[in-house]
Amino acid sequence: MYAAVTLFVFMCLTATAHADHHQPCHSPNMTGFMSVVSFKGDVKAYGAFTYDSMGKKLRFRSNESHPSNGSLGLDLLMFFEEGILYEIDSKNQSCEKKTLHCNMHPLDIPDDATFLSTLHSGSSSIEGEGLKVSVWTGSLPDKKGHYSMSVTMRCLPVAALYFTESASLIISNIDVEVEIKDPDLLVVPSFCLGQPLEETPEGTVNSFLSEFM
Ligand SMILES: *[C@@H]1O[C@H](CO)[C@@H](O)[C@H](O)[C@H]1NC(C)=O
Ligand SMILES: *[C@@H]1O[C@H](CO)[C@@H](O)[C@H](O)[C@H]1NC(C)=O
Ligand SMILES: *[C@@H]1O[C@H](CO)[C@@H](O)[C@H](O)[C@H]1NC(C)=O
Ligand SMILES: *[C@@H]1O[C@H](CO)[C@@H](O)[C@H](O)[C@H]1NC(C)=O
Repeated sequence: MYAAVTLFVFMCLTATAHADHHQPCHSPNMTGFMSVVSFKGDVKAYGAFTYDSMGKKLRFRSNESHPSNGSLGLDLLMFFEEGILYEIDSKNQSCEKKTLHCNMHPLDIPDDATFLSTLHSGSSSIEGEGLKVSVWTGSLPDKKGHYSMSVTMRCLPVAALYFTESASLIISNIDVEVEIKDPDLLVVPSFCLGQPLEETPEGTVNSFLSEFM
């Protein structure tokens, strides 16, 4: 996990801008693990994700056997198309249904991202000892910060960095597979059905990132 983080920070330092007309790619269906770490070093969450790229659905559950700060039992189900977010408590069989205000998340490059560079980390000449990635950047909504994302040539997200004045996050993906292993994880649990939509307090923006920042 930390190796991936170090790798990505290094890539950000060495990436140089090229004039290019690339279109951001979109990642496929995926299952994998994700770590969310702050720049201060707090592990915010580590756990399994399931992503449906066409239906634009994401499930992320923190793994309780990994140390983290403040996100034990975090279980998110997000429907980006519908703009709905569920915070699920399986132990408790309860859930909160909220409006999702922002579609940005670390598994998909926003359509308006700017291509920065393609680069080879590790070795480009020794087979199996290098990773070729493309790096994309852009502003966070409301322009309160910016992001940088790297993906493999098949558009598998490697890492994303989010910088704001108040907090910064490094999100890395590990052991990604290009299939949905358990489609049930993308279905609203029965105990959440009929849950009323919670009112959002004035000034609150619900998003994937706001769960950690
Ligand atoms: C992705 O997963 C969804 C839901 O299981 C499925 O409907 C869709 O066909 C899958 N897409 C691909 C390209 O496999
Ligand atoms: C949690 O992590 C352990 C150890 O890495 C792993 O065996 C287990 O499958 C994980 N559980 C989930 C739900 O991801
Ligand atoms: C979690 O964060 C709080 C506040 O930032 C800190 O006081 C505490 O030591 C942290 N705990 C762990 C296990 O990192
Ligand atoms: C169960 O859910 C309620 C809210 O519905 C919450 O106040 C309570 O803390 C939860 N209990 C546990 C053990 O998570």
